[in-house]
Amino acid sequence: MKSNIQDTPLNKQLFGEDFIWGISTAAVQIEGAHDADGKGESIWDVFTQKKGKILNGHHHHIATDFYNRYQSDIDLIKQLNIPNFRFSISWSRILPDGTGEVNQAGIDYYNRVINYCIELGIEPWLTLYHWDLPHALEQQGGWTNRAIVDWFTEYVAVCANAFGDRVKHWMVMNEPSVFTGAGYFLGIHAPGRKGIKNFLPAIHHAVLCIAAGARTLRGILPDSEIGTTFSCSYIEPYSAKPRDVAAAIRVDALLNRLFIEPILGLGYPAELTVLAGMDKYILPGDMDSVKFDFDFIGLQNYTREIVEHSFFTPYIHASLVKAEKRKVPITAMGWEVYPASIYHILKKYDLYPQIRKVYLTESGAAFKDEVVDDLVDDPKRVEYLQQYLQQVLKAKNEGCKVEGYFIWTLTDNFEWAEGYHPRFGIIYVDFETQQRIIKSSGLWYAGLLR
Ligand code: GAL
Repeated sequence: MKSNIQDTPLNKQLFGEDFIWGISTAAVQIEGAHDADGKGESIWDVFTQKKGKILNGHHHHIATDFYNRYQSDIDLIKQLNIPNFRFSISWSRILPDGTGEVNQAGIDYYNRVINYCIELGIEPWLTLYHWDLPHALEQQGGWTNRAIVDWFTEYVAVCANAFGDRVKHWMVMNEPSVFTGAGYFLGIHAPGRKGIKNFLPAIHHAVLCIAAGARTLRGILPDSEIGTTFSCSYIEPYSAKPRDVAAAIRVDALLNRLFIEPILGLGYPAELTVLAGMDKYILPGDMDSVKFDFDFIGLQNYTREIVEHSFFTPYIHASLVKAEKRKVPITAMGWEVYPASIYHILKKYDLYPQIRKVYLTESGAAFKDEVVDDLVDDPKRVEYLQQYLQQVLKAKNEGCKVEGYFIWTLTDNFEWAEGYHPRFGIIYVDFETQQRIIKSSGLWYAGLLR
């Protein structure tokens, strides 16, 4: 009989004994306590105060109050049988001005979180930069100032020395294409800067920092596992017309190749004419120093994008054909539910021989969740996760080097410019009372991991 992997019920054994199962979060989205215990201002503290930047005027000052509730939230991770917890460090809690004086209270806080994970047998995975630059550094140009390589290296060294005796898995950066694109080109994320003159230096300095941060970690912690994460979406052309196909190639280079290829030693993608002005930021020796042999690459996938030629879109001459317009199933973010996306992404990155190992460090979906009789039933999220995982399994069985999967995310939280409206958690949060309710998807994950 012909066997079809899609029909195999999911079971964690199918992924192998050593497969890493986890859950991901980020400091700004959950911690709250934005000015507690000596924390400095971050670019998100400033950005959320500006009129019209965040949907419904929401801000992250309390978020899910993880800063104060970390114990009960980590208890929930334990209750859901999740063995690995990925979270990020807020740079301005550790170094309130970005460089110089260390805030011991910030170090103490992350020590409490790390120690509590370890006490419960949960492995901590640290992201060093999930988009919250200290504001003091932004005032000096932020990611557009090459001095950021020194600032970032200093910060990474402080974290490695403070936490490296217990933390074995590190991610240097989260999704550089999003924080440079949304924050320094489109102006829709902090710090709200726009234009190519901000975007190009931010790209190159982020690439330099990824390698410099990784080298710093490896120097201080030679035995730790070092990675960095990238967002990636499977890209397809809207039609077979040559100009749509060419547009899709450009968008793929922008979204999926721009940051990873220089780090793998392949340089910036030549297809991107938008990078024409980049040369003035690249100093002699840079393209050698941006290479780093990572232990793993974190890939984060949510959807696919369909691309068409667009004469009027500057630089890239391409635009995305919205999922809503295509009449396909979508999430509360308007993103297409397309499970095969994660399969194609794994196949795509498998073609780089330089990548040793891949963990899927984020995957998940926002849906409109509601509390009914004290319960939150979210069958669409369960189905989404099951279908995406089936595709991960298919890629793994075909030999792709994927060795872990982290759901985005633990609790509903502050979804950047979208505020609290999109709910991504496998645990529901009532933002008025901070009450948590484990959703059906949380119970499903607990069952899978039992
Ligand atoms: C990622 C990001 C997360 C989260 C998620 C859902 O791009 O790393 O912080 O917001 O998307 O939108």
